[in-house]
Amino acid sequence: MRLVVFGAGYVGLVSGTGLSDLGHDVLLYDIDAEKIAKLEDGRIPIYEPGLADLIHRNQRNGRLSFATEIGGAFNEADAYFIAVGTPPGPDGAADLGAVMAAADTIAKVARKQALVVVKSTVPVGTCDAVQARLAKASVPLEVVSNPEFLKEGDAVGDFFKPDRVVVGARSEEARTMLRDLYAPLQLSGERLVVTDPRSSELIKYASNTMLAIRISFMNELSRLCHATGADIHSVRLGVGTDSRIGKKFLYAGPGYGGSCFPKDVQALAALGRENGVQLRVAEAAHHANEEQATFLAQLVEKSLEGVMGKQITLWGCAFKPETDDIRESPAVKLAHALLERGANVVAHDPEAGANFAKHFGTKLTVKDRDYDALDGSHALVLLTEWRSYRAPNFAEIKRRLVASASGIAPVLVDARNIWRPYEVVRAGLRYQGIGVSSNRAADRPSQR
Ligand SMILES: NC(=O)c1ccc[n+]([C@@H]2O[C@H](COP(=O)([O-])OP(=O)(O)OC[C@H]3O[C@@H](n4cnc5c(N)ncnc54)[C@H](O)[C@@H]3O)[C@@H](O)[C@H]2O)c1
Repeated sequence: MRLVVFGAGYVGLVSGTGLSDLGHDVLLYDIDAEKIAKLEDGRIPIYEPGLADLIHRNQRNGRLSFATEIGGAFNEADAYFIAVGTPPGPDGAADLGAVMAAADTIAKVARKQALVVVKSTVPVGTCDAVQARLAKASVPLEVVSNPEFLKEGDAVGDFFKPDRVVVGARSEEARTMLRDLYAPLQLSGERLVVTDPRSSELIKYASNTMLAIRISFMNELSRLCHATGADIHSVRLGVGTDSRIGKKFLYAGPGYGGSCFPKDVQALAALGRENGVQLRVAEAAHHANEEQATFLAQLVEKSLEGVMGKQITLWGCAFKPETDDIRESPAVKLAHALLERGANVVAHDPEAGANFAKHFGTKLTVKDRDYDALDGSHALVLLTEWRSYRAPNFAEIKRRLVASASGIAPVLVDARNIWRPYEVVRAGLRYQGIGVSSNRAADRPSQR
């Protein structure tokens, strides 16, 4: 098939390249001329494991191209995919400006009957609104919902081996075409969910919000653990071994971030309000997440008996490992909070350091090497569980960190609960986890 993908961001790049790897001719179209020039040059604007090789291979074999204009054979594409951003507006509702702009372009360029496949995460009813907008096109265009579920950091794997593909289409013809498109992925049984566009749109928001709710509930419990002396590891193990609940997404931490959960939870709550249905659970998940960010800043402050004039190192800027994406990252929130309280912040991240430096300018320092970021700091806060941070040399960390002028010993705040507290304490450092009492934690090997 001949396909055009609108938006060469995290979703468009991965799904467009994946589709070309399945044998389709794909044009990736974006309005960002700099991004397209980079891609044409073989430079990949984002960090996503495995993506660069895949792009280069399909560029070489001529099935993948990039452009800021749609012309030639692609005016007669079989399908146009919309994978542009849907950022939150002031009230939390999704801003559909880019989606509608993409629809207008499609209406202008399409010269042959085709499908318009909406991959962007959009509120219920958007596909119908896009369909109405396409009425001005000179050829018949049918809008299909096909939300994207890839996880940044494992997006290429998710494209080729998705848990499920959801298709929301009104006509049998459109359903068949999408089934054919994804046939090479050999989706068996329940892994291809075919429904109407409105249900498909809601499935995406419901999935992200369900995951966010689990995280937020565990984060609230972690705060209760601090208040009561219970231990969040034991609670997680005890709760997660119930097969009805399951073990995933039960880790307490600094709060969820990224370009999806925060905005999608708020967009779902806004959609509820617009339709006269108050989605209290979704709203609570959002508020609990905001509170966790505040709680973490207070925890760091308490561990150092104030942060004014102190130097604090952050390990991890990305919202999760294996990505350079810092959108809504807990590290961004914590850095802002610490800077406001008068601390000096030094940061390191294996891939997201440049984005972090760009975001903060001269307000903080970003180091290329993890241990160099520690020199002269009073605390180290671990925010992203990159593999390279999992088994650090605590003795070396101890050598680099310093006690504060008032004699407060250096502290490691493990916001992902990945370190064994007794190893930290054995190295002569103080340990502070999330939902783990620092006194009790140091006594025994972790159960994780
Ligand atoms: N990032 C994720 O992990 C992820 C996962 C699943 C779903 N989604 C959803 O997919 C959508 C895209 O997310 P993303 O992270 O890839 O966004 P992104 O910001 O990385 O990329 C969006 C791209 O669209 C381009 N663009 C904007 N207007 C355009 C137009 N009119 N025509 C062509 N290109 C245009 C931008 O220049 C940008 O390159 C969002 O709705 C998001 O919620 C994202």
